[in-house]
Amino acid sequence: MILVTGASGALGRLVIEHLAARPAEAPDVVAGTRNPERVPAGVPVRRIDFDDPASLAGGFDGVDTLLLVSAGYGEDDAVIARHGAAIDAAEKAGVGHIVYTSLSAAGDHLPYALAHRWTERRLRSGTAGWTILRNGLYAELLATLTPVVDGAITAPLGDGRLAAVAREDLAEAAALVAADAAAHAGRICELVGEEAVGGADLARARSAATGTAVAYEPGTLAQAREAFTALGLAPFQVPMLVGTYSAVAGGFLSGTGGELRDLLGRAPRSALEIAAASQPG
Ligand SMILES: NC(=O)c1ccc[n+]([C@@H]2O[C@H](COP(=O)([O-])OP(=O)(O)OC[C@H]3O[C@@H](n4cnc5c(N)ncnc54)[C@H](OP(=O)(O)O)[C@@H]3O)[C@@H](O)[C@H]2O)c1
Repeated sequence: MILVTGASGALGRLVIEHLAARPAEAPDVVAGTRNPERVPAGVPVRRIDFDDPASLAGGFDGVDTLLLVSAGYGEDDAVIARHGAAIDAAEKAGVGHIVYTSLSAAGDHLPYALAHRWTERRLRSGTAGWTILRNGLYAELLATLTPVVDGAITAPLGDGRLAAVAREDLAEAAALVAADAAAHAGRICELVGEEAVGGADLARARSAATGTAVAYEPGTLAQAREAFTALGLAPFQVPMLVGTYSAVAGGFLSGTGGELRDLLGRAPRSALEIAAASQPG
């Protein structure tokens, strides 16, 4: 049995769809989520909340492979406690293999890297088999960070570019690995994109897609911080978002390559097309 946590999230739902589409004789897939009502009908569901020990006691019984989708929204101590509790419970239940959706090595400068690296270290010193999927940042996230407002993308990316990845591709890769976990035991897979996308690229692509001129006007990190703060985001979210711009602008996330094409057995989707098509505005 394969259990996927975070099954009502954007990534988890896509993974479940891929796993559910396998032939009937494939091992069962079970959706683990805090929100069972949001999981597509027809997939068995268990309520799994890393913050709720009661849901973890017995939550992983009978599971051979656990796909642990990171629950990264929070301060480091909260995220570490969540991931630690989930891994403790999985080991206690005798789960054979844990596949974890982590963050690309290039993301080490990002404010949310630490909890990922902690989780990787915990898995590597644990008793279950493991595979670490070091996901690059989503093309869809890049779109969210670069909305078109009044005909312009104002985002403090400077000349920096991001080797963004389609979330759908990362979901498919995760499903492929989870379905054949033993073949990927002990692997750390770097899953970044094959094209690096910057603000000017997005403006051009968006202009071409809509037939309306879109400019790129990089602002400053201070302006972005002020705008996010004014939106009333949770305190931990502001440095996460500003730090993401900063890492892209600093050129730390532009490295392309990785193992995504090998895992998928095909070329990844175009991050530029997806980001331009998903851009709010
Ligand atoms: N690579 C990137 O660009 C990128 C961008 C954003 C986030 N992420 C990370 O990747 C993860 C998946 O991305 P996504 O696009 O699916 O994000 P999402 O749609 O916002 O979903 C958030 C996920 O976190 C899970 N979660 C939150 N609190 C939890 C808890 N206490 N116990 C168990 N699960 C919990 C949710 O599970 P349920 O609601 O189903 O319980 C859900 O799957 C995120 O959680 C975050 O850590 C990566």
